[in-house]
Amino acid sequence: THSRTEKLLADPCTPAYYSWHQRPPAATSHQLSPLSSGVIMSVAGIDVGDSTSCVALARKGGVDVILNKESNRETPSVLTFNAKQRQLGTDAVGAMATNPRNTVSQVKRLLGKKFSDPAIQADLQYLPYKVVEGADGGCEVEVQYLGAATRLSPEQLMAALLVDLRQLAEREQGAPVTDAVLAVPVYFTEAERHAMLAAAGTAGLKCLRLLNDTTATALAWGIYRTDLPEDTPVNVVFIDVGYSATQVCVVALRGRELKVLSSAWDRDLGGRNFDNVLFEHFVREFDAKYKLDIKGNLRASFRLRGACEKAKKILTTNPEAVVSVECIADDKDVAGSITREVFEEEAKATLDKLVQTVLKAVEDAGLTPETVSNVEFVGGSSRVPAVTRHVTDYFGREPNRTLNATETVSRGCALQCAMLSPAFKVRDFQVQDTFPYGIQLTWQKEGERVTSTVFERGSHVPSAKMLTFYRTEPFDIEAAYTPESDLPSTADARIGSFKIGPFAVPAGAESAKLKVKVTLNLNSVLVLESVVAVEEEEVEE
Ligand SMILES: Nc1ncnc2c1ncn2[C@@H]1O[C@H](COP(=O)(O)OP(=O)(O)OP(=O)(O)O)[C@@H](O)[C@H]1O
Ligand SMILES: [Mg+2]
Repeated sequence: THSRTEKLLADPCTPAYYSWHQRPPAATSHQLSPLSSGVIMSVAGIDVGDSTSCVALARKGGVDVILNKESNRETPSVLTFNAKQRQLGTDAVGAMATNPRNTVSQVKRLLGKKFSDPAIQADLQYLPYKVVEGADGGCEVEVQYLGAATRLSPEQLMAALLVDLRQLAEREQGAPVTDAVLAVPVYFTEAERHAMLAAAGTAGLKCLRLLNDTTATALAWGIYRTDLPEDTPVNVVFIDVGYSATQVCVVALRGRELKVLSSAWDRDLGGRNFDNVLFEHFVREFDAKYKLDIKGNLRASFRLRGACEKAKKILTTNPEAVVSVECIADDKDVAGSITREVFEEEAKATLDKLVQTVLKAVEDAGLTPETVSNVEFVGGSSRVPAVTRHVTDYFGREPNRTLNATETVSRGCALQCAMLSPAFKVRDFQVQDTFPYGIQLTWQKEGERVTSTVFERGSHVPSAKMLTFYRTEPFDIEAAYTPESDLPSTADARIGSFKIGPFAVPAGAESAKLKVKVTLNLNSVLVLESVVAVEEEEVEE
């Protein structure tokens, strides 16, 4: 016979970051708040967008998007700093023109990114404020605040936005709101997800889950349907064209179950790109007509961009729009006009990229435009008529707009939070999400590097894997995204490394037998769940 003992050697942990990202690891658990004083009355779903943010509260009566103090359902994701104070949201928007250097927006794009990342370097042209490299190689924003140069990490800035949104919810609720599900872009990597969790922790939020924007949208769509077939699933494509990015997911829905089949995205395709098309058009026109150097003037550039965004929205409902800015520079007023036709012609490259992204998601799901049952549009930029036309041409039918374009992500998150919270009874609905990147582990074995893919691209979230090692000495396991993952070629695919050991080799044995369990948790974050030393010995009767 056989005696067997197992000894737990390690508590769950996330990989130690590589030197460029040595921020304190955030809590990754998704345990629930204790039901101290009876029940939790409300839980939140929070969507911090690159242009605007939304909070939805799940309460006994249902899910509501919260109004801010200006009675708007969307709050600008902007912070501004000056000699006297810090302002957020609507109060900060005016400062984008008057104090551009110290007014921070698009924080989500800086989260968890190295300063040297080419994506960050390319973004700097859009950001009027100063971004510098932090001691850990990450990004820091430098502003003049209370009369001194102050450096803030993207996590701190995100935390400030989250506190503001949490307070909004608490004012409405008249009670603390701590449990929340936060939306993140589906393409967020380990470092970006950790940064978001760290920000949530700093903001006093208990993040029960990071939910992909696209999955939140699909959940908000599917949970109220009563007409979903029990047998053959319906395949629905959700397309979210936002401020700076586009995300697409293909979902199979059946009965009370939702399964993400594929996701595709373009980090650089959204309203910002359309604004830029108009901006470049008018920079050319005005520089020639009025002898100006608009791009060389930060304030003039900002004001022209603002006018271009307005013109873009006018072109959504009108065939022509006027762009005019008074006293843009050198005391000159500028004015010009553009037709929708010219705008669409100049935006052609952007529109083609959009169709490519949709096509990739559909093909990855093993579908064709004909086998897709439904196409749903969300995101503010899905309102651009040419966006609708291009997607319509691809599918051979016009996408539906069943969902609110800018509130749905927060609603889906609030629903997910209610489902995870014991304080709520939500009619059962299964959400089977997938992670779009594959994860591989590498270790040394007898002097050689061995690499094994533990989570294929498109693995279910959560997932677990068990690996067995026979070793005499402590060793490292390095984690990285697989080459098949759709990371930009310039991106750093490394996630981090785990140290296994120390451990004792049992007397009389050649090596220790170690069982290593790794999981891809509910936040799509890699966790070393446990290391167990197994001792087996033959026992004579
Ligand atoms: N009527 C309209 N016509 C054209 N564009 C519009 C219209 N309304 C809003 N937009 C654009 O939608 C974009 C904002 O969309 P949305 O609120 O979905 O983005 P977000 O969620 O803040 O950003 P992201 O999802 O990229 O983080 C802006 O670029 C805005 O100009
Ligand atoms: Mg969005």
